[in-house]
Amino acid sequence: MTRIDPRTAVVSDRLAGVQRIIGVTGSKGGIGKSVVASLLALSLADRGVRVGLFDLDFTSPSDHVVLGADRRFPDEEFGIDPHRVEGIDMMSVAFFAGDAPVPLRGDAATNALLELLAITRWSDLDVLVLDMPPGLGDTNLDVIRLLPRLEFLLVGNGSRVVIESVRRALTLFAELEVPMVGLLENMHRGTSTAIADLAAAHRVCFLGSIPYDETLEEALGDAASLRQTAVYAGVPTLD
Ligand SMILES: Nc1ncnc2c1ncn2[C@@H]1O[C@H](COP(=O)(O)OP(=O)(O)O)[C@@H](O)[C@H]1O
Ligand SMILES: [Mg+2]
Repeated sequence: MTRIDPRTAVVSDRLAGVQRIIGVTGSKGGIGKSVVASLLALSLADRGVRVGLFDLDFTSPSDHVVLGADRRFPDEEFGIDPHRVEGIDMMSVAFFAGDAPVPLRGDAATNALLELLAITRWSDLDVLVLDMPPGLGDTNLDVIRLLPRLEFLLVGNGSRVVIESVRRALTLFAELEVPMVGLLENMHRGTSTAIADLAAAHRVCFLGSIPYDETLEEALGDAASLRQTAVYAGVPTLD
């Protein structure tokens, strides 16, 4: 289907002015992908990096909640313009869908992804951060296929229910030869070195451990408070 889909050609044109595309991904939900993606974008913007943030979790978009973005409908003329939020160019299905649920699967998920990639008018960016949906399903495989320049930043944590799936993700990305920014541990508690050890075993860069931060919940939606959190302090600088 995609070989004859004109949107695939449009996608690379739309992203021609973007230097790096970094997918913040994880093998499970609830491990902090959205918070990490949003605060990575915020910290890059604060340091003068031209950054975009694209929420690709269509069924549960959350970056607009993390950053406190209005859900205004995007401006439209020969495509749609991202919103500007705290110096970040931001796009999310939440800007279109209001409170309506967006249940998508299979081809519908791929179509929504292609459509948004094809119509969004990104300006010249140093980094476009993609906030990926949980798991290793359709959208993750689609962006790997559609965006040859993609690099993944994998978020994990040291819980025994997560480690196994982080290992699977590392194996899959190695098999698919996706370039890796590295593995970042989030919500670190105690003294476990399981995630750092996994990074070493799979020869990917270990990007550090972000501790569990009780103040995060209160800080959501307010950039000044977010800048005081352990997540903001712990996201990688990408230098
Ligand atoms: N380092 C942290 N300390 C405390 N709470 C966190 C941390 N990282 C994420 N959270 C919280 O965990 C929950 C899930 O985070 P979220 O970014 O939505 O995960 P995901 O995108 O992987 O599903 C949210 O309530 C978020 O505020
Ligand atoms: Mg999320």
